[in-house]
Amino acid sequence: MTDPDPSVDADPDVYADPNVDIALAPGQGHETVLVLDFGAQYTQLIARRVREHHVYCRILPHNAPLSAIEALAPKAIILSGGPASVWAGGSPRCDHGVFEMGVPLLGLCYGMQLICGELGGSVAPASHREFGRATLHVDQHDGLFEGLPDDMDVWMSHGDRVETLPDDFEIVAHTEHAPYAAVRHATKPIYGVQFHPEVAHTPRGKEILRSFLFNVAGLTGDWVMSRWIEDEVAAIRAKVGENQVICGLSGGVDSAVTAALVYRAIGDRLTCIFVDNGVLRAGEAEMVEEAFTAHFGEGLIVARAADRFLDKLAGVTDPERKRKIIGHEFIDVFKAESTHVENANFLAQGTLYPDVIESVSAYGGPSATIKTHHNVGGLPEELGFELIEPLRDLFKDEVRVIGHELGLPDELVWRHPFPGPGLAIRCLGEVTRERLDVLRQADTILLAEVEDAGLMRALWQVFCVILPVKTVGVMGDERTYESVVAIRAVTSEDAMTADWAQLPDGLLRRVSNRIINGVRGINRVVLDISSKPPATIEWE
Ligand code: XMP
Repeated sequence: MTDPDPSVDADPDVYADPNVDIALAPGQGHETVLVLDFGAQYTQLIARRVREHHVYCRILPHNAPLSAIEALAPKAIILSGGPASVWAGGSPRCDHGVFEMGVPLLGLCYGMQLICGELGGSVAPASHREFGRATLHVDQHDGLFEGLPDDMDVWMSHGDRVETLPDDFEIVAHTEHAPYAAVRHATKPIYGVQFHPEVAHTPRGKEILRSFLFNVAGLTGDWVMSRWIEDEVAAIRAKVGENQVICGLSGGVDSAVTAALVYRAIGDRLTCIFVDNGVLRAGEAEMVEEAFTAHFGEGLIVARAADRFLDKLAGVTDPERKRKIIGHEFIDVFKAESTHVENANFLAQGTLYPDVIESVSAYGGPSATIKTHHNVGGLPEELGFELIEPLRDLFKDEVRVIGHELGLPDELVWRHPFPGPGLAIRCLGEVTRERLDVLRQADTILLAEVEDAGLMRALWQVFCVILPVKTVGVMGDERTYESVVAIRAVTSEDAMTADWAQLPDGLLRRVSNRIINGVRGINRVVLDISSKPPATIEWE
């Protein structure tokens, strides 16, 4: 989506390496839709929306060589939005061959302007910049808007607009300020829309994308999870042969699904290693042990290493230092445990598609530089294992579907993401056993209430944070001077952005009462009402 402040994303280095292939696995015979990324904040969202229609989708940088694009044999190509101006020098473009492949094209915002610019039309700064909701009036219903109403809300976010259409193009829909809000080639399957169908603020956006995929591009929607599992199991078997695989479990859904998939492929030649690092939530180590022994039988090593982590964390308050310490200790413990598994030369990891995209510099979103986070559980190459990353093409919600199909228990499949450095980054200030204990008690109360209210699945994450301040209170006749706990609850699709969740008043009241009355050391509970960006989900 075009950013209101184009400087935010417009760093030319963003487009430095056109050869980066960010999703390595081939499309495995599925119909593939390609999204070319022109620097939009929400390119991943476009891919997710396409996949929701059971159409496999990949993202490549806009400047990917034509050969890389052709190698995917895309059945349709979507050109994303982006913060740049088509008319400005050095603005991101794709190989002109993309327009000559004969593949159905859909340009979104900047992508539409690029199509028009490349095919002979003109683009200029709009006299009226449009940001926000607009009413779209459909002029021609066949094709993209089939079955949709004459008027509908759409989300606009652009400072430029198409001034003149290329030859053979026609208007399909307009808004008050954008006469060319949706356009198409008169005879070829090429469409451009000035608005953003991928965002929730375009309520009929899902149907518009669906129309493009099925009516315009003639796809069938052949990407189904059961087939994905079969293909992936076969691929793991072929890759591993008779060898042994180890897999680090974090207690989260990604590593659990990875393990379940590898287990289905090679059975007891998989050994899972779970490290109790002392900063897990209440009952977490026990839950993981129970669930995994039930699912995988013998192949689980639990390394009880809490003391060595907590000793190293003593006196440390800087969040990045906490992360580094936990990361290093984890690697040491994991390495030591893995030597107990003979002939283990493969390591299975639960890397997801957003991690893959974020780890490529061309896509380094703000979170990649603000915190050195993702994959604290990720292990360095020097360990010498060959990697198996079966989920590297998937989004979190797809992973959950697969976990469910593989028979993992709901409590694991629907577990909220939990950061590798665990409670250490929710215990602001020093991480002591006492403070962790207080935090765990408060967190347990919050989670139980949210669970009782049936709200776990509606939330992306919900947790307590213990703050490094004390405040004055009064209990009975006594003045107290104790710690503060903050409640953090967010909704999100992929953690790249998040909204603070409006928990019901009654629930908040109960949680606050129960924590203040029941957890010794806490006399105040506050609620975090910040969204991401500009805040992050975790406080550290
Ligand atoms: P932020 O706080 O950046 O978090 O909005 C986005 C998502 O990442 C998780 N997170 C981490 N995960 N190691 C991890 O494995 C980390 O150091 C880390 N820091 C944040 C966070 O819980 C949220 O789901």
